Amino acid sequence: MLRKPIIGGNWKMNRGTPEKCKEMLESLIPLVEGINDVDLIIAPPFTVLIYAYKILKGTNIMLGAQNMYFEEKGAYTGEISPIFLKGIGVEYVILGHSERRDIFKETDALINKKLKTALNINLKPIVCIGEHLEERELGKTKDIIEFQINETFKDLTKEDILKTVIAYEPIWAIGTGKTATPEQAEEIHIFIRELLTEKFDKGTADSIRIQYGGSIKPNNAEDLFNKENIDGGLVGGASLQVDSLVQIITAADNSVK
Ligand code: 13P
Repeated sequence: MLRKPIIGGNWKMNRGTPEKCKEMLESLIPLVEGINDVDLIIAPPFTVLIYAYKILKGTNIMLGAQNMYFEEKGAYTGEISPIFLKGIGVEYVILGHSERRDIFKETDALINKKLKTALNINLKPIVCIGEHLEERELGKTKDIIEFQINETFKDLTKEDILKTVIAYEPIWAIGTGKTATPEQAEEIHIFIRELLTEKFDKGTADSIRIQYGGSIKPNNAEDLFNKENIDGGLVGGASLQVDSLVQIITAADNSVK
């Protein structure tokens, strides 16, 4: 099964001024311009999305947003409409990141609404799932993943799920420098495909891209991406340095050669 790997740089709440954004993107672009076998996405803060769009236009790097609201317009002070995101050239949107779930109390039901809206207007969703350390230590990882898949993907059609990217991000590995081993990540990616096979069918499950996220660094990227069921990664800290991001992108590119 040929799935195109996808590398997303999630800048989180960093590089949100035009100067910082420009500096990063202008040095990144020439270093990855020959990469055609990996989808590349940068998700900067909202404040520089339109600015980033102008810099990235015509390159092989696509623009992602880190969040959105599920309504398209109205009296929702401080929220961002997915229509606005589309209108300024955003192609992907990260939904249900564990920081949104834990800090901002987003529920699976809310993420499900956002997901349906994104799909409705053809914004490509990257949906994050993953367990806390305590849950892993109690042997509950698979229960948590199954619950999140059932609730977050509730009422989705086969066509919907085929347009969705899943990011498995074990929360204990995010920003901690403690990566899941390639074997630990692969085990959960296989489990996610089994769940998707039950919900849809094997062909569908085998077509969906599942990224890994959590302390991906140049020194562990290759081993992770060489696993059959890991289709690239969602990168936080290491996406803030051009050289480390390029090394991670190169590892993903090599994994398909
Ligand atoms: P780190 O790569 O900094 O662990 O962050 C991962 C992440 O949360 C990507 O969405």
